[in-house]
Amino acid sequence: MKYNPRVNDAIATRPEFAQLHPYTPDELAQGALQVMYELERSLSSLFGMAAFSLNPSAGAHAELGALLIAKKYFKDRGETQRDKVIVPDTAHGTNPASAAMCGFKVISLPSSERGRVGVEEIRAILGPDTAVCMMTNPNTLGLFEDDIAAIAAAVHEAGGLMYYDGANANAIMGYARPGDMGFDLMHLNTHKTFTIPHGGGGAGHGPLGVAAHLAEYLPTPVVAASPRPNGETGAAPSDRLTFSLDFDRPKSIGPLRSFWSNFAHAVRALAYLYANGAEGLKRVSQLAVLNANYLRVNIAEFLETPYVEVCRHEFVASAQALKRDHGVRALDLAKALLDYGYMAPTIYFPLIVPECLMIEPTETESKETLDGFIAALREIVEQAKSNPQALLDAPVTTVVGRVDETRAARQPDLRWRPG
Ligand SMILES: Cc1ncc(COP(=O)(O)O)c(C=O)c1O
Repeated sequence: MKYNPRVNDAIATRPEFAQLHPYTPDELAQGALQVMYELERSLSSLFGMAAFSLNPSAGAHAELGALLIAKKYFKDRGETQRDKVIVPDTAHGTNPASAAMCGFKVISLPSSERGRVGVEEIRAILGPDTAVCMMTNPNTLGLFEDDIAAIAAAVHEAGGLMYYDGANANAIMGYARPGDMGFDLMHLNTHKTFTIPHGGGGAGHGPLGVAAHLAEYLPTPVVAASPRPNGETGAAPSDRLTFSLDFDRPKSIGPLRSFWSNFAHAVRALAYLYANGAEGLKRVSQLAVLNANYLRVNIAEFLETPYVEVCRHEFVASAQALKRDHGVRALDLAKALLDYGYMAPTIYFPLIVPECLMIEPTETESKETLDGFIAALREIVEQAKSNPQALLDAPVTTVVGRVDETRAARQPDLRWRPG
């Protein structure tokens, strides 16, 4: 999870971008098309893919697009019997949901005791009906799938495609590329990896990447670049190239949404990429991983961490023992953290860890903030043992206190009224 510098919002809301009408002819929108072109090229090189579509509005939307591509690809090859999608049990719920929406049958693959996918286990379920294997790497336990090359080789040998869920891409930037790991399709959540506020139901952005053999299936439109008649070679792209939206792609799965998708997010993402540069992005990954491991080692002193090894940008802890011995759940710890002024971590995900807290610090957190978080969580855990009832009422300092979770989900009331 990344930090969202406000400057990127300032750039995206400049009138040249924000007031551009989606029907503006290509020749009058060269700057905006260039932004999309440069973002597409940058993502392709950073993640080792042949091409990206900036069309999808979120990670889940891109998953759907990728699986539609896989379906069309296999149909063109006369392999319509490939109707199974393999999804490890650590995957985000959108993975099996997207596969099911596309009409595939979902095969759930249990993780090994190391919290990873095993090569032999996957080999055992591969066959002529395998369409796609969807993997997140590092996975949602924060662990790098160290057998990924062998897994990709086995899936390819069986004739299937590899899909990379890039929600955790901020852990690997500049170090490893999904294309090099053997993935054929992937998505990024630019609202997770490259600035753009995440959560709150706001608009997202999910670029969809493909290897060369799938490029012709990408959603339309694709931003195309052609040399300017009298363009100077070696000058800036805008001097050398003319940009246009290409809708004429006979094998495309078609548009996934209207117009240019969430264009302002493309501007934010490119601004973040260029501000950091190649070395800066590497540093983002380094610091995200360092911060997560600092928290993991310190929190392990007072809370169970089921996977005791170096993690990537996130790790999982469990409140299972606190629940058993004191009736205090992961939910209660998360609510209590709000009283200490910290954003609560993701809870009850991944599903394979009981009473799970999935903790994912951004790369920009200072040591003071991380130490403050550790101290707050330590105090909460001590309180869970000495005075559990107090935690069951948390949060007590926020505008809205403990809500009935089921009613809040079924009958959301999103207005705030003073008093
Ligand atoms: C691992 C993983 N995959 C996929 C998604 C879905 O992404 P989005 O919320 O952009 O649809 C998420 C979202 O949190 C995620 O964490």
